[in-house]
Amino acid sequence: MVNLFSRMIVGITIRMPRWFVRWISRRYVAGPTLDDAVKVMKRLEKEQACFTIDVLGEEISTLGEATFFLEEYQRVIKAIVENNLDANLSIKPTAFGLLIDKEAGMANIESLVKSAEEHDMYVRLDMEDHRVTQDTIQVVIDLHNNGITNVGCVLQGRLFRTIDDIKSVTKELGPAADYRICKGIYLESEDISYTTRAAIITATNDCIDELIVSGAYLAVASHDHPIINHTLKALELAGMGPNKEDVRTNSAKPRKNKGPGYEFQMLLGVRGPLRRKLRKDGHRTRVYIPYGEKWYEYSIRRLRENPTIATQVMKAILMPWSNRP
Ligand code: FDA
Repeated sequence: MVNLFSRMIVGITIRMPRWFVRWISRRYVAGPTLDDAVKVMKRLEKEQACFTIDVLGEEISTLGEATFFLEEYQRVIKAIVENNLDANLSIKPTAFGLLIDKEAGMANIESLVKSAEEHDMYVRLDMEDHRVTQDTIQVVIDLHNNGITNVGCVLQGRLFRTIDDIKSVTKELGPAADYRICKGIYLESEDISYTTRAAIITATNDCIDELIVSGAYLAVASHDHPIINHTLKALELAGMGPNKEDVRTNSAKPRKNKGPGYEFQMLLGVRGPLRRKLRKDGHRTRVYIPYGEKWYEYSIRRLRENPTIATQVMKAILMPWSNRP
């Protein structure tokens, strides 16, 4: 029923004029330009959040198109440094050519990660759909094996494989392992993923527990109370938390601009009060800031990929008290 309703809203939204979609998406997308993103971050700096910046646009059809992302992310690095922002980069591996030519994609990502390294800046590889799960993880392992360690990827709790990925990748990377863990936005098939809300939450929480035990840096990306509450309890059990050193004997020394072994991450425009409450309680919070000319394509594709977002967006508009930016 909810699904049908969500699909109906998606059907209506994609027929609406661009200005309408922009009106809805401006809460979630900083704007078309890098200046817009900087302005949003300057505003949110007041709540002592830190940031990760995403240049909108994903899978490309020719390798030449990756040049745009390479150049734009160089501008982002420069803007972070010039504006003295506590921010790092989030990139989509397919925008760098990973699905067209693995080696060329890897070379593009490596060149960006090296540029970021010059400024002691971290690069997070967002996780896209199942076609690139293995290759995205492999890029991170290969870069670490080449001595480039300011890079990590995202893991999706809904995938069956993730719990084993945590064990095997952490074995390879040791304390340098650093993950963002989320439920996963792509609606994958039941052959490879959990598909009910309850099972996805349980699996994601299991991954969070495994990450804590493994000694990895843990970035929990969720706005969902059962995930956040579980994380808070699990951290407490592990002796971790605000103003405490990471007591795990198998973890790495804290990196510049990272929390004591963990942080919380949320999307721009979603559940601001919860984010501010976590910050007020002393936890490190990072806001995901998407910007770019492709805001329209991004918004429509996100809705198509996961129609339940449409219901959440409608709820945020119609019942603003339930979900303030
Ligand atoms: P859930 O979807 O149940 O949301 C909980 C509540 O939060 C909702 O009830 C609603 O109130 C609010 N909410 C959540 N999303 C909303 C929205 N868009 N609009 C309005 N309200 C909303 N996925 C992936 O596959 N690869 C990736 O690399 C990333 N990266 C990533 C980074 C960051 C910083 C975050 C926060 C999330 C991601 N994700 C992701 C997306 C993630 O997998 C997941 O789809 C979303 O975070 C939504 O899941 P929640 O855990 O928030 O629960």
